[in-house]
Amino acid sequence: MTGGFDLGANGWIGFNFNMEKLRDQHGMGLDATRGTGTPDRVGPAPLRIGPVVVDPPVLQAPMAGFTNYAYRQVVREFGGAGLQATEMVHARGFLEIDRRRQEYPERLWGVEDEPRPLAVQIWDNDPSALADVGARLAHELKVSVVDINFGCPVKQVTERAKSGSYLLKCPDRVGEIVARVSQACAPTPVTAKIRLGCTRDNITAALIAEVVEQAGGAALTVHGRTAQDFFSGQADWDRIGQLKERLKRIPLIGNGDLDSPEKVVAAFQNWNVDGVMIARAALAKPWLFRQAAAALAGEEVPADLTLHEQRTLLLEHFRLVAARFGETKGAVLMRKFACCYAQGKPGAREFRTHVAKVSTAAEFLHVVETCFPQSSAGDTPEMARSGELGVGS
Ligand SMILES: Cc1cc2nc3c(=O)[nH]c(=O)nc-3n(C[C@H](O)[C@H](O)[C@H](O)COP(=O)(O)O)c2cc1C
Repeated sequence: MTGGFDLGANGWIGFNFNMEKLRDQHGMGLDATRGTGTPDRVGPAPLRIGPVVVDPPVLQAPMAGFTNYAYRQVVREFGGAGLQATEMVHARGFLEIDRRRQEYPERLWGVEDEPRPLAVQIWDNDPSALADVGARLAHELKVSVVDINFGCPVKQVTERAKSGSYLLKCPDRVGEIVARVSQACAPTPVTAKIRLGCTRDNITAALIAEVVEQAGGAALTVHGRTAQDFFSGQADWDRIGQLKERLKRIPLIGNGDLDSPEKVVAAFQNWNVDGVMIARAALAKPWLFRQAAAALAGEEVPADLTLHEQRTLLLEHFRLVAARFGETKGAVLMRKFACCYAQGKPGAREFRTHVAKVSTAAEFLHVVETCFPQSSAGDTPEMARSGELGVGS
């Protein structure tokens, strides 16, 4: 990222970005692979997904509508995520777009050129379509990991398309899919992301874990809820931890409710997982991976960004989105990200009310300038660190 661009030419408000300063103060751009192989290493070992080394073993989760190239780039700048993932891509949709327009789906924006390691997640229930798309991703786009979604609880995916978490009650189909996609992608590793089961009275994760491993899967990520739970209640980390016994060869990645460096450390200590994956909390704090990596390495955890810095980051994120989609569509797309950035801060509700209605870049920039949460008492990193600004958990 480069700082200091001037939006004034389009009549936009002339914010003065200073991304270089952000980098210096918050370790942005640090190499996420630091520490690999050092004998006196503190913290968990790097995760191995087939030939891919994930170090630190902290993964950025796939999130439809959010984890596009711009978001991944923001996360990458901070460092700390050993493996990043795209949004999920529908296999038959991919093939159809390719047949009709001979291009990749919009969800693969950036994938061709961005740094590796990078995982692309695909979903469907058709082993052939998944294998075809997996092969294209592995051999044409040369992604590091092909991940298959067996966890999505959304009705359009489960009931309408009999895919995602629906497949957790179809172990044979899961096995066939993992085997076919693994064969098609080799030597690129294929992983599976699951929930505990479809419903609380039908927990199938243990069986599915064995099926994934036997079919040639290279890692298993488990979100500790059932599809029925959606996002309610708490992730059941005891059940995640129990799956470790079922996996003889491949690593277990735990996922659910990790929103602080302390919780990441506790996940490794208490449940013996090989890796962890973070989703929602890192929408509000894309620097959380960097904090988690530091905590795992026994280093001082970098402070949260100040509110002023977060506003700068939000504007930089907007610039990345606008560069791809244009200013107007970019502003509309940024509404949801802006709400995430403001989450939990004083004045977030008012900000959300205004930013949710913006339909032009000028409106977006105006709302960010006038309403993004800020501290009246000055806004120093020390205050943010001590939680005085409400930035944190
Ligand atoms: C908006 C949103 C979109 C998501 N999209 C995907 C997706 O495309 N693929 C997937 O496997 N999981 C998806 N998830 C689930 C997350 O990857 C993750 O498993 C879940 O949010 C639990 O982790 P967390 O508690 O850290 O958020 C999504 C979650 C959210 C909130």
